[in-house]
Amino acid sequence: MSPNSRMRHALAALVSLALLVPVATSAQFSISGDAAAGRRKAEACVPCHGPRGKSTRPDAPSLAGQVPLYTYFQLFQFRAGRRQNAEMAPAVASLSDQDMQDLAAYFASEPASPRHEAFDETKAAAGRLASNAHACEGCHRPGFAGYQHVPRLTGLSREYVVAQLRGYKAQTRADYDGAMTGTAQPLSDRDIENLGHYVSAVATTAPAESSN
Ligand code: HEC
Ligand code: HEC
Repeated sequence: MSPNSRMRHALAALVSLALLVPVATSAQFSISGDAAAGRRKAEACVPCHGPRGKSTRPDAPSLAGQVPLYTYFQLFQFRAGRRQNAEMAPAVASLSDQDMQDLAAYFASEPASPRHEAFDETKAAAGRLASNAHACEGCHRPGFAGYQHVPRLTGLSREYVVAQLRGYKAQTRADYDGAMTGTAQPLSDRDIENLGHYVSAVATTAPAESSN
């Protein structure tokens, strides 16, 4: 990265933090969604994310069991156009902040469901080493169960995990605090593939440590 693009990146990270200051600076922040209202609003999401947030589409993540702050922040990012996807843009365009909190509460209340994809044991073992080297489970917690605003990775296809890691590295996927953009920079494409196998191997259905 040139000094200029580093500077632009730092500025973009600051701007994104500023946008989220009311919610992101407080570790105590919790959303106040109504899961029952969210269940009704989530009917529009079923064609792509599956019934009760359990997706079978490889490119559409499962939402069941996701930590609510993450779901809420992502909906916010899609609506603000900071995270871009042609299918999600129309799905969030008319959502209010309360809708987003209700949806986040609803999906968090559904049990997480792993994809049970076949994985390559040698690649998963190499992925474990890469995960340890980059402290992936320090933030995502053991088994990638999620924590506060850090997403659970259970129920994501390997294809999706790999695509997101490539996106953070290429900076085509913006993240709200810069943690993943920074983490992804030193990863090689082989690391990314191995990490995809490792996530398939260990993504857990254990409850997240914090329901925030
Ligand atoms: C027409 C298909 C479609 C519909 C309808 C749709 N989504 Fe999505 N959604 C996607 C796809 C595809 C992605 C992955 C985007 C990417 O690759 O960045 C996604 C991503 C997401 C994410 C990010 C999850 C993560 O793990 O990062 C959230 C949250 C989400 N959708 C919520 C919703 C909600 C809530 C609704 C209903 C109000 C909805 N979506 C409706 C296709 C859809
Ligand atoms: C410093 C904390 C931190 C570390 C270390 C970290 N992550 Fe993350 N990760 C996050 C946060 C925060 C997000 C949500 C960012 C956003 O807004 O997109 C995230 C998002 C992700 C996503 C996208 C999930 C989705 O549903 O779209 C994947 C995949 C991921 N991380 C994998 C990894 C892997 C693999 C590693 C290790 C190489 C790692 N993370 C290391 C904090 C971290």
